[in-house]
Amino acid sequence: MCGIVAYVGPRDAVPILTEGLARLEYRGYDSAGIAVVGRSGDLRVRKSRMRVAELAADLPARFKGGPGIGHTRWATHGEPSDVNAHPHVSGSVALVHNGIIENADELRAKLEADGVVFASETDSEVLAHLIGRSAATELEDAVRQALSQVVGTYGIAVVDTRHPGLLVAARNGSPVVLGIGQKEMFAASDVAALVRYTRQVVHLDDGELATVRADGFRTSTLDARTTRKEPSVIEADDAAYDAEGYAHFMRKEIHEQPAAVERALRGRLDGRFHTAHLGGLALDPREAREIRRVKVLGCGSAYYAGQVGAQLIEELARIPADAEPASEFRYRNPVVEADTLYVAVSQSGETYDTLAAVQELRRKGGRVLGVVNAVGSAIARECDGGVYLHAGPEIAVASTKAYTSTSVVFALLALHLGRIHDLSPADGRRIAEGLRALPGQITEILDQEDRIAGLAREFADYRSMLFIGRVRGWPVAREGAQKLKEVSYVHAEAYPASELKHGPLALIGPELPALAIIPDDELLDKNLSTLGEIRARHGRVLTLGHRALGDDAIVIPKNERELDPILLPIALQLFAYHAAVALGHDVDKPRNLAKSVTVE
Ligand code: G6P
Repeated sequence: MCGIVAYVGPRDAVPILTEGLARLEYRGYDSAGIAVVGRSGDLRVRKSRMRVAELAADLPARFKGGPGIGHTRWATHGEPSDVNAHPHVSGSVALVHNGIIENADELRAKLEADGVVFASETDSEVLAHLIGRSAATELEDAVRQALSQVVGTYGIAVVDTRHPGLLVAARNGSPVVLGIGQKEMFAASDVAALVRYTRQVVHLDDGELATVRADGFRTSTLDARTTRKEPSVIEADDAAYDAEGYAHFMRKEIHEQPAAVERALRGRLDGRFHTAHLGGLALDPREAREIRRVKVLGCGSAYYAGQVGAQLIEELARIPADAEPASEFRYRNPVVEADTLYVAVSQSGETYDTLAAVQELRRKGGRVLGVVNAVGSAIARECDGGVYLHAGPEIAVASTKAYTSTSVVFALLALHLGRIHDLSPADGRRIAEGLRALPGQITEILDQEDRIAGLAREFADYRSMLFIGRVRGWPVAREGAQKLKEVSYVHAEAYPASELKHGPLALIGPELPALAIIPDDELLDKNLSTLGEIRARHGRVLTLGHRALGDDAIVIPKNERELDPILLPIALQLFAYHAAVALGHDVDKPRNLAKSVTVE
């Protein structure tokens, strides 16, 4: 799996493919390759463990043609190597594939028994041979027949020198987007690869196949029924995919948060009724009144933001709410209740476990809302209704602005549900004013970057850190620990402050520092006594809250206490980022992690 880009049109495909692949580099990869149909109808393929820029520079001047396909690979089946890199070739056919073919071994054995000699160890090559050896006269039919034999997930793009005017793409569990140009067409696994050329896109659905020519495209299902697609327009422009002078996308995205939060709020606060308007909810007030429970689902930071969201809904709307990792939920044969509102959270809108949880819920008749950043993504399309974050593309693997915008959208949802239930107009106004103050207050926190960076450098020398928080501070502690682990590789564990005595206190000593989330709220006294317990055991504590509680302290501006979990993590993002920079890590692409996990 990783990145796919494809082109059909009058231009030479090669520079378009290499530029597209460069745009997908942020997802991480270990090898790259391209294949084009040459002017004389031959298949030209180059692939290797090189970086995309090296691959492009290494191409001979005569390496030109089109249509073409390109790929960046992150090894799943078979080690990273030149032969395992995509495209894979079978006769006149070349293919790039994201996803995992689960019955590859079985299919490979059959093909080998028929005399096929494999060049690589990949599951993807199986698919190339199934297509290449098909007796079908149309490439679309050959692809369809091949896909009917595979079990697993895929996003693919295929070219065939026997059909020089077209390419075929298909999707099942791994995203494929078509880009519509002027007498030229593109396909990619991520709009990042397309935005330089076109803003008009079409997202393929699972089980859908597209035959793409320079002058248009045709989509159909695996059983050959034609489907109709409405193009959508990508919001982001090319600059959003550029680090624009920042050393890392993560830092750029942290600094984009005042603007991202403004976009999440824009047009959504109602000054007359002190509530929030969310256009895409598909939930009228009567239905909203009948909700007895809210269950939020997501993975990683989306799950932690979902926990913040569940707390906000319970606190402001007084509806019982909780969050659960989407992957746990889908595997435990959950009871789906008619009066529960399910909310799926995802930045990419493509996370496989979250998508599968949504599909399971819909199958059982559950009502699901999406809180999603990527417009038109699979999760957004699967849900009954939803709210977009409008955070713009997030490139760094570690989520920052999408995390914050998700919390803001949940505050809006909680305000909306609260004002339908029992939240008073005065409290509605108080929360709305608090929300309006967020962008300015985030800027105040960002202005403390140098001081936070200094603290991060000091604490980065420890091997481990404990993050503690209570109630609203608990998901903040979890997200703070997650950020530090992800980018700095410093071990970090989050614990509810109330649980300290029940285990982790045994670890406290000079070698294990704690980061204590202590806002000035109704739990301040409780938190101060926890602080005392740690200090009595000579543990070093860095506090984060509204006042300095010692020498090592980060102080943030005060807002309404319900909104503390939106502001507190901003400081922890800067802390994790600067710890990672101090330790010399690849901040935007942490080892072993992917931005969007489209496999199980
Ligand atoms: C991966 C990323 C995380 C992200 C999670 C969920 O694990 O590394 O940063 O929080 O996926 O992604 P989503 O796109 O669904 O929000």
